[in-house]
Amino acid sequence: MCGIVGYVGSRPALDVVVEGLARLEYRGYDSAGVALLAEDATLVTAKRAGKLVNLREALAEEPPPAGTLGMGHTRWATHGAPNDRNAHPHTDCTGSVAVVHNGIIENFAALRSELEELGHKLVSETDTECVAHLLEDELKSGGNLADAMRRVCRRLEGAFTLVAVHTGDPDLVVGARRNSPLVVGVGEGENFLASDVAAFIEHTRDAIELGQDQVVELRAGGVTVTDLGGAPATVREYHVDWDVSAAEKGGYEHFMLKEIAEQPRAVADTLLGRIGAGGRLVLDEMRISDQELREVDKVVIVACGTANHAGMIAKYAIEHWAGLPCEVELAHEFRYRDPILSRGTLVIAVSQSGETMDTLMAVRHAREQQAKVLGICNVNGSTLPRECDGVLYTHAGPEIAVASTKAFLTQLVAVYLIALYLGQVRGTKWGDEVFAMIQLLAQMPEKVDKVLETMEPVRELARSLAGERCVLFLGRHVGFPVALEGALKLKELAYMHAEGFAAGELKHGPIALIEPGLPVVVIVPPLARDVLHDKIVSNIQEIRARGARTIVIAEEGDTSVEPYADTLITVPAVPTLLQPLVTTVPLQVFACELATAKGHDVDQPRNLAKSVTVE
Ligand code: F6R
Repeated sequence: MCGIVGYVGSRPALDVVVEGLARLEYRGYDSAGVALLAEDATLVTAKRAGKLVNLREALAEEPPPAGTLGMGHTRWATHGAPNDRNAHPHTDCTGSVAVVHNGIIENFAALRSELEELGHKLVSETDTECVAHLLEDELKSGGNLADAMRRVCRRLEGAFTLVAVHTGDPDLVVGARRNSPLVVGVGEGENFLASDVAAFIEHTRDAIELGQDQVVELRAGGVTVTDLGGAPATVREYHVDWDVSAAEKGGYEHFMLKEIAEQPRAVADTLLGRIGAGGRLVLDEMRISDQELREVDKVVIVACGTANHAGMIAKYAIEHWAGLPCEVELAHEFRYRDPILSRGTLVIAVSQSGETMDTLMAVRHAREQQAKVLGICNVNGSTLPRECDGVLYTHAGPEIAVASTKAFLTQLVAVYLIALYLGQVRGTKWGDEVFAMIQLLAQMPEKVDKVLETMEPVRELARSLAGERCVLFLGRHVGFPVALEGALKLKELAYMHAEGFAAGELKHGPIALIEPGLPVVVIVPPLARDVLHDKIVSNIQEIRARGARTIVIAEEGDTSVEPYADTLITVPAVPTLLQPLVTTVPLQVFACELATAKGHDVDQPRNLAKSVTVE
């Protein structure tokens, strides 16, 4: 939520900052702004409500003076409407300090009153503006901008990434972070700050991960990181293992289309190096020992949105292959309950971004109660891996489209790996199945590829349904979370009413929604699961008898569903527990095409942002 870029070096800062913002726009697109220190050390700002294109137009009409130090912001509004006034950067009374911010400053109301009593005139409704005024006052007490930032941060409560510039320190950009992301890009004679490495990947792949409550001083010639007391801080340096092409559309009309198409490769990358000699899984990188895993007596999965759907599927896999009780809960609900956890509980937190505040709070809550926490995460350098006892990276590569696609499929692979690994180290009664399944998992990139080859009828179907008001999704067993995921994709992209139901629940209420012509997508389990399969075939007949238009997703060769399917979409035959890897793909394509047919921006749906860094 909100994207931040900072730059100091020898290039025109405006170009670097605006291009960086373009790569971060997925994080929020309510407004955008820049601040530059011109060659004569004057501070120049420009900001506009709406997408970055509006700011670009304003900058083209009135080009700011040249400068090689600057920062920018793309906003997802929390405090104050998304208008020009509330857009970042915010400045102090003297116009010598500018600040951009991601997060929520929880004590801003008290700080604002205090500042107003001291005579400061605040002009926006944001929490951020306070920081510019606090810095103004602190600068009067001596030291440079970094000293002032450290003192101000000690007074702030909540979550923040702050980046500031000051006319009195014309070679310095200062950043600070608590509970919100900020990474440093290390160049030669130039350095970068950003919410995500995508902003500077074009210029450098060398990055520094900043820790909690750290302040960074960025100059063209070097980077200094301290804690809030000014003591040198320990940081982690790393090299980003993808390049700029991964963060570009590469000929696709939308990032989402590219990311859907990348899924076979992404799934292969999640598996890479994890199936060892003799077909056994090797997950040493996880940092949790086999002995500790043998002592686990319960698994609790916490996540939000699409990642939570991956968690729901994990439950079936963990209970079956690892023989362990498993609960799944939305992270924000878990956080405010009193869950019963112990040293034997393994909490698995699933998050693409590694920055979802709800999930991070759940992780902290679990660790306070002595549980071991394992993160499943895509973004190297993000907060989640640092806060967990162990981590399994999904290696999906950057996911830029706001709606999650390849991150979901790779989260599924990661949870399958964990479930199978738990089965392997614990030696459950399903030992033979575990080893057979590891081999089958290795074939999944090919199966996903096969699904993608046959998507034209799904696209046609989606276009034909663009005028509908509502679509329902039904599934059983692991098909139920897939139904929820199909409905979520349609809601967020096509802004349509869409609901997913457990098919068994139909007769307990939702069947009342069925009316003639209503499109209902049904995910059918493999034929081999005869009990489940036959029950869902009965459900299809029940809704069809009431006039629903049935769109059936079933495995190839399943002729039993043909008589009841108005539209039949087939996917390769795979074992039941792995089926979400192939049945989700048509639902992603369906939502993307339907939203496109309605003229929506599929990469940046309204009101959303990619990483939800506030609770
Ligand atoms: C939906 C979607 C969201 C995220 C959720 C969690 O398409 O992308 O529901 O899955 O906000 O995000 P992460 O995985 O970054 O914690």
